[in-house]
Amino acid sequence: MDFSFNARIEHAYTLPSALYTDPACLALERERVFHRTWQLVGRTEQVARIGDYFTVDVAGEPVVVARGADDQVRAFYNVCRHRAGPVALEQGNRQTFVCYYHGWTYNLDGSLRHAPEFEEVQDVDRRAMALRPVRVESWGPLLFVNLDPDAPSLTEFLGDIPQRTAGHRIGEMRWALRKDYEIACNWKVYVDNYLEGYHIPVVHPGLYREIDYDAYRVETFRYSSLQHSPIRGAESRGYGGERRYQPGPDDPPDAQYYWVFPNLMLNIYLGQMSTNLVVPLSHDRTLTIFEWYFLDADVPETRQKIDQVVKFGDEIQDEDIFICEHVQRGLNSRSYDRGRYSVKRENGVYHFHALVHEFLCSHVHTLER
Ligand code: FES
Ligand SMILES: [Fe+2]
Repeated sequence: MDFSFNARIEHAYTLPSALYTDPACLALERERVFHRTWQLVGRTEQVARIGDYFTVDVAGEPVVVARGADDQVRAFYNVCRHRAGPVALEQGNRQTFVCYYHGWTYNLDGSLRHAPEFEEVQDVDRRAMALRPVRVESWGPLLFVNLDPDAPSLTEFLGDIPQRTAGHRIGEMRWALRKDYEIACNWKVYVDNYLEGYHIPVVHPGLYREIDYDAYRVETFRYSSLQHSPIRGAESRGYGGERRYQPGPDDPPDAQYYWVFPNLMLNIYLGQMSTNLVVPLSHDRTLTIFEWYFLDADVPETRQKIDQVVKFGDEIQDEDIFICEHVQRGLNSRSYDRGRYSVKRENGVYHFHALVHEFLCSHVHTLER
């Protein structure tokens, strides 16, 4: 895979349309982008107790996350070392993993405990037959894995985000709701769209009235970016359409919309956060998983508040889905290959495309041994 990408946005062309329309490009992205970056897989509360585990698909790789007897959270490929059966299904609490094929048994730290009827087999080093480990790290309530043993740490990936959001007390927020949408477009069409405010006046007239468009800007970092969109008027409202919180003297001033390469959006607002994970289902189908967290998730009024937040989010999402599905058709057209960027409004999209270029076209990449 190779394509030119200009190091200056003023001269740059957008990604070639084949990257959005060719199934072979998605296969390469799985290997070079999704298998090398930190992927949100769940929440720390899903493995709160010793023996808690859950399974997850990480860009086609089956993974299991578990809290061991020593209280450590670990992740493994959910692939038995015998003949590749699954050692765990869905989620639950167990003391050992027993493979669903022939019953090999593993401890929660991944080590092989028992392989039935294997006495005659020669040259079996049991220690070498442990489940293959996967890196796992957490931030606040969120759990991430990375399939690349040589990737930078999650901390390095997130950069300043934990410090910049410290005032929002994300670590104290509780999960409240999940909502999925399926969209007929390549995953990058959806991410591109998220990363600019340029389309807001045309695609989201309702939202446009709420925000100070002239002050809207995108700040980029090594593996992430931040969109600032000041809210009009004295009363804070934000993307979530939420009016209950009045900013206190110690509260951070505005909503923060982060994106973390390649496929995670974090929308942080007073007392609430939503994550949006963008999962490619195929080259032209994408699943977006929204999850909401609240500081006061347990109080009774929260249900009503959640309904409001979700309703406003739905409106915006429907408008984005409409345009993204049309853009996918446009990218398929024989008439189109590459476009240009607005220097003022599309620096976030350019930054994303530069990272895609870096990960796809740099030939230094590691495969796990
Ligand atoms: S594949 Fe797991 S025990 Fe055979
Ligand atoms: Fe949008």
